[in-house]
This record gives sequence, C-alpha cells and structure tokens, in this order.
Amino acid sequence: MKRAFFHALLVFLPLQLFAQTPSEWQAHRAELLRHLSEKSVAILKANPEYLRNGDVEYDYRQSSNFYYLTGVPEKESMLILAPSGINVRELGRRVKEILFVMPRNPMAETWEGIRLGPQGAKEQLGFEAVFTNDRFEEFAERALANADTIYMETERASMNAPLNESLDFIKRARERFPNVVVADPRKMLHPMREIKSAGEIALLRKAITITCVGHREVMRSAQAGMREYELQAMLEYVFTQNGSERLGFPSIVGSGPNSCILHYRAGNRVINRGEVIVIDLGAEYGMYTADVTRTIPISGKFTKEQAAIYQIVYDAQEAAFQKIKPGAAYREPHEASARVVTEGLLKLGILKGTVEENLKSRAYAEFFLHGSNHYIGLDVHDVGTYGPLKPGVLITVEPGIYISEATAQKHGLDKKYVNIGVRIEDDVLVTPTGYELLSGSAPRSIAEIEALMAETGKFEN
Ligand code: GLY
Ligand code: MN
Repeated sequence: MKRAFFHALLVFLPLQLFAQTPSEWQAHRAELLRHLSEKSVAILKANPEYLRNGDVEYDYRQSSNFYYLTGVPEKESMLILAPSGINVRELGRRVKEILFVMPRNPMAETWEGIRLGPQGAKEQLGFEAVFTNDRFEEFAERALANADTIYMETERASMNAPLNESLDFIKRARERFPNVVVADPRKMLHPMREIKSAGEIALLRKAITITCVGHREVMRSAQAGMREYELQAMLEYVFTQNGSERLGFPSIVGSGPNSCILHYRAGNRVINRGEVIVIDLGAEYGMYTADVTRTIPISGKFTKEQAAIYQIVYDAQEAAFQKIKPGAAYREPHEASARVVTEGLLKLGILKGTVEENLKSRAYAEFFLHGSNHYIGLDVHDVGTYGPLKPGVLITVEPGIYISEATAQKHGLDKKYVNIGVRIEDDVLVTPTGYELLSGSAPRSIAEIEALMAETGKFEN
C-alpha cells in the first residue's frame, strides 16, 4: 500500500509541477466532441519521430493539437473521438473516446525511457478506454462503419510524393467507406486553442517569467568581445535551470548587421563595442511557450541614433498596448504601432512627406517589416481566428525598426544609422477590461535597460 502510494506520487509529480491536470485535457475533448456532428469521427495522431542522421533522431516534441486533447507526450499514439460512441467489448459499453499508446516493453524502455502504457494513461490522464496502438485500425474501422465524416489532420503533399501515414490511412478508409467525407479538425481546434484556460495561463506565465529571468541575466552579463552564442548559452542555461524543458523556437541573438535579420539564429559573430543586439527567444514550460524580445546596447549605453530609433519602437509598443481590450480588431494594435513608427521616422527625417501619405503607401514597412502581433500558446505563432480580441487570449506586441546597410543606402541615411535593428516584444493577456503585461519583469525602457546593464552579472568573466 505504502509503496503504491509512493509510486503514484512519483508518477503524478511531474504533471502537478506543470500545473495542468487531466480535467483540462478532458474538457478539451468534451468541447471538440460537442462541435462534432453526430455521425462524424475525429482521428488525431501523435507527431512522428524524425531521423536526424545515422542512429540519431531529432528531439521529440508532441503535436500541439494532440497534446491539447490528450496530455500524452509519447510518439505512436492516436485518439479516436466519436460522438455516437464506439462499442468496446472489454468495457461492455459504448464510449466516445479511445486512446491508443505504445505497449509497455521492458527492453525498449531500457533504451528510450518509461512509457505510459494503457494502464498508465488511464491512471494519469483520466482516460477510460485505452488500448495498445496495434488495436488502432480495428477500432477506427468500427467507428468509420457508421460515419459520414472523418476529421483528420493532413499536411500538404505534392501529387507525386509518396503518401505519408495519415494520407495512406485516409486513402484506405475512403476506398472501403466511399461515402465518408474527409474534413479538417483544425477549423474547430484553432478557435478553441485561441482562448486559454486558467491552467494554460499559469503555464504561460511561468514560461514568460523564466524568459524574463534570462533577459535580465544577459543584460547584466553581456560585454563587448563576447560572441552571440555566449549570450545564447547564458539564456538557455537560465531557462533550463528554472525548469523549462526546451525552447519554444530557436533563439535569435543578432548583433550589429545581424540585428536587421528578422529570424537570424544566434551564431558565432563577435559583438563589437557600440553595437545593438536583438535577443528574441522563449522558454517552453509544460509545452507552452513565451516569446519576448529585448534589444540591448552591448556597451551598456545606446548611442544617440540607437536611442532615437529605440524610443520610436518603444512608443509604438505603448500605443499598441492602449488598443488591447476585448472587442478590439486584431489589427488595431499593429495599426497604432505603424502610425507611431511613421511619425517617428518622419521626425528624424528618415521618411519624407505627411503621416497620412506614408501610412497610405505603407512606406514604414521598409523599416518595420513584420506584423506586430501573434498569439502564443502551445506554438510560438499560436493558432486562432484573428477575430476581435477576447478575454483569455495571449498575444505578443512586437513592433520593430531595422536599418540594414541596404535600407540605409536606399534612403540615403547617415552611416550612424546603419545596422541598427530594434525589436521590443512583450506578451500580454487580454483581460475582461483591457490587458495585463506578463513580461514586464524584463526591463524595457532605455533608462531601465541601461541601469540593469551597469550591474554585475553571474556570467561575467
Ligand atoms: N519570435 C519570433 C517571431 O515571433 O517570429
Ligand atoms: Mn514573436
């Protein structure tokens, strides 16, 4: 008895640390079931594992949709949802959801780690009907026999490419059940994933807090002469030390000319005195990711030109924040930022003409090359409707101005502006009355950044 209790504690501990409970995944399945028509079947599959080279696989991460519905982190798992139920002889009744997982296998587990197995999935994840994955096709066939629609995710594939596993399954199902229509479950899942539950918000808060701790450490420790990958290593060390299981996306640490490459990946460039560095990254926690960008001057103080550009981006971000509230159109924060960026660039003489002319021609877009908002969640560019903002939605607010050598040349700018890339990105939660800034613990204003950079850091040498 005691041993069983201890075992249960060990098994439950990781889930509790991540603050998400089986009831959340159960609720997600129940909601999807409510959206499915009576005679439809939804089949969702775990991500495949991809070979990297030789005997080495890429790090495995579960499909976000599959995780959202099941909480299962393992490969080779499947879920069948059927609103009218599937008869399960072993249980003596019909059930609306069946999970399939890899069988327990002591030899495989010795190499790859402990598997849930059907019993583990029942006990830890709150499923009633769980079978080993060799039973999947038998149950899928039973479910499809009475169905008119099959909801299944597929990836785009060219006509002459070999069929992947999902397309092959659909082909075989359509041959046997020609009246079954194939539909995409994402049109139901994406609006669901847009609005976060309390448990999801707790995980995102944690991921964002960890990311901000990393930014603070780098502000304290960064020094001219370091290479970009040294800052990357500091950040990723802090993330891991604080419980982040992986990165939400590859870290962007771009110095000097690289500050103007939007999705540059940290490289081995030496960071020279006087340069700015765009640092854009996100720790993942409990499968949910942050996305926070700070731009810092390696010497600890912005030059006059860097400060002028930085302040425009900062003001553009402030203007965007003011637009965030339930009911606001998705584009409103971006449009507010675009206006402030246009006004700022006109004031510096970088753009010419009137504000309205420049907004109409979108001249600012040569400097501010991307949208300033996206959802965050299980994916860094999370899914959603792009409709009016609603409480429980998390979005980034990330205006930027990038003056590469080519852009400076085209606009005849002084060389003091060359290689100034500035992006400031924060994560906000839409609340019933407005918004909450979740990444405020990483300094954002020029004064705050310069003050923190004057402190000594734990990675300084
Ligand atoms: N953080 C990278 C991006 O939002 O595209
Ligand atoms: Mn972003």
